[in-house]
Amino acid sequence: MALEKILVVGKDMETHQLLRPYTKELFAADEPRDVWGMLESVDPHLILLDPHVPTTDVTEFLSMACRKTNTPPIVVVGHENVQEHAESFLQLGAFDYIKGKKDHNRIGQIIDKLKRIRIDGNTDARFFSSQCPSSVSIVGRSEATDRTLRMIRVVAKSTCNPVLIIGETGTGKELAAKAIHILRHGTNSTFVALNCAALTATLLESELFGHVKGSFTSADRDKVGLLELAGDGSIFLDEISEMPPDLQAKLLRVVQEKTFRRVGGTKDIECKATIIASSNQNLRKSVEEKKFRRDLYYRLSICPIVLSPLRSPDRCEDILLLAEYFLKNSTICPEKAGRISGMTKLAQQSLLKHHWPGNVRELKNVIERAILLETKDKIAVDNLIIHPENGMEAETSSPFVGLKDFSLERAEKELVKRALQQAGWQKTRAAALLGITRATLYAKVKQYEITEPDKITESVTA
Ligand SMILES: Nc1ncnc2c1ncn2[C@@H]1O[C@H](COP(=O)(O)OP(=O)(O)OP(=O)(O)O)[C@@H](O)[C@H]1O
Ligand SMILES: [Mg+2]
Repeated sequence: MALEKILVVGKDMETHQLLRPYTKELFAADEPRDVWGMLESVDPHLILLDPHVPTTDVTEFLSMACRKTNTPPIVVVGHENVQEHAESFLQLGAFDYIKGKKDHNRIGQIIDKLKRIRIDGNTDARFFSSQCPSSVSIVGRSEATDRTLRMIRVVAKSTCNPVLIIGETGTGKELAAKAIHILRHGTNSTFVALNCAALTATLLESELFGHVKGSFTSADRDKVGLLELAGDGSIFLDEISEMPPDLQAKLLRVVQEKTFRRVGGTKDIECKATIIASSNQNLRKSVEEKKFRRDLYYRLSICPIVLSPLRSPDRCEDILLLAEYFLKNSTICPEKAGRISGMTKLAQQSLLKHHWPGNVRELKNVIERAILLETKDKIAVDNLIIHPENGMEAETSSPFVGLKDFSLERAEKELVKRALQQAGWQKTRAAALLGITRATLYAKVKQYEITEPDKITESVTA
C-alpha cells in the first residue's frame, strides 16, 4: 500500500531511498522550519523526520504542529542507539517512532496503518472534504461545501483583491475569510476584523483608517487604523452592507488606488492588505434600494464566494457530520469529553427536520446545549432543545411579565432582550421587530449591557 504524498525532512539520503517504494510523490524539506511554508502547496499525507534532524528541532517542530489544525501525521526516525526521546516525541503527538535502521521495516506497517485510518475514517479526516486544505478546518463533505472550498482555493491562490463572501447568518463567512487569509498569507501573518455594523460612522472611519492627533476633539494622540495594522495580511470587513455611504466612497478609493490617509492626515499610505468583505444581506438588492454604492458593489464582486444555507438540498448532508464534529470536539464540558459517543436515531432525525435559520452557529449551540444536559452516552432527542425559547412562551407571553416596577428603562431593556432572543440574536431582524434602526439597536444593547449568552464577542480581532 502506498500513501500518495510524503514529505521527508532532513538530508539523509538513505531515508529518502527507504520511502520511495511507499509513495507516489516524495517531497523534501531540508529543515523542520521549511515545512510550514510547504504544507499548503504540498498537502502531504505523512511528514517523516529523518535521523539527522536534531532532537531539539524535533521537539520544537512537534510542539508547533500540535498547536496547528490538521497537520498530517508525523513519524520520527531516530538514531539506532538514541532511543530515550521516543516517549517524549510520542507524548508531543508524533504518530510513531522508528528506532533507526534495524527498525526500518516498520515503515511499511506504519504506512499501511495510516492508509487504513484514512479509508476507515477513524480520524478527523472523515469530517473534511478532499478539497479542504490541511491548514483549514472547514467541516463538510457536501456538494455545496466542496464547491465553496474549491472557490476558496482558487481565490486565495489568485491576486483577487477585494474578496466578497456572501451567506446567511452563521453559514461560516468568518471561517471562510480566515481560510482565504491562511491560504494566501500563511498562519503567521496578521488578520484583523472589523464589524461595520457595530460602530458609529465616525468611530468606524477612525478604526479603519486611523487618525492623526488633533483631527477631532477626542483625538489626543495618533492612532494606527486596522488597514495599516493588517500590513500585508488581511482585513475582514464584516457586514459591509451596514457601512455608512461616506465610508463606502472612501473604501472605494482604497480599493481602486490602493492608498489611504489617516483621518486628518495628509500622507498617502499604501494598502498592501487583502480586503475581505462579508455580507448576510442581498447586496444587489441594497444597491437597487440605493443603500449600497453600485460602483463599490461591482469592485467587490469580482469572484464572490457564496455560502449555502445549511437547509439547502446540496448542503443538508453536512448537518449530521457537523453535529458529530461538534460533539467530538466541543470543550464546553471537559468532564464529559469522550463520554458521549454519538446520538440516537431519533435525535438525528430531528436535526435533519429542522430548518436551521441560524445555520452552523445554531447547530453548534444546539449540540453544546445537548452535551450539557445529557447524562447518558448518547444524545437523546429530549436533550436536543432546538428552540430553547419555546418553553418560556407559555409562562411569559408578555415581555413584561415578572417586572415588578414601572421603570420604563427596565421595560425597554426587557423588550430589546426578548426581540433579540426571538430573532436568534440576529441584529437586523431584532431591529425590524422593534421597529428601530440597527444603529439604535446597537446603542440600546450597549446602554443596557445586553450580551448574547453563549457568544464570544469578536468585533475586533488582531
Ligand atoms: N463548515 C464549518 N465547520 C466547522 N465549524 C463551522 C463551519 N461553519 C461555521 N462554523 C462555526 O459556526 C460558527 C459561525 O461561523 P461564522 O462566524 O464563520 O459565521 P458567519 O457567517 O460569519 O455568521 P454571522 O453572519 O452571524 O456573522 C463559528 O463558531 C464557526 O466556527
Ligand atoms: Mg460573521
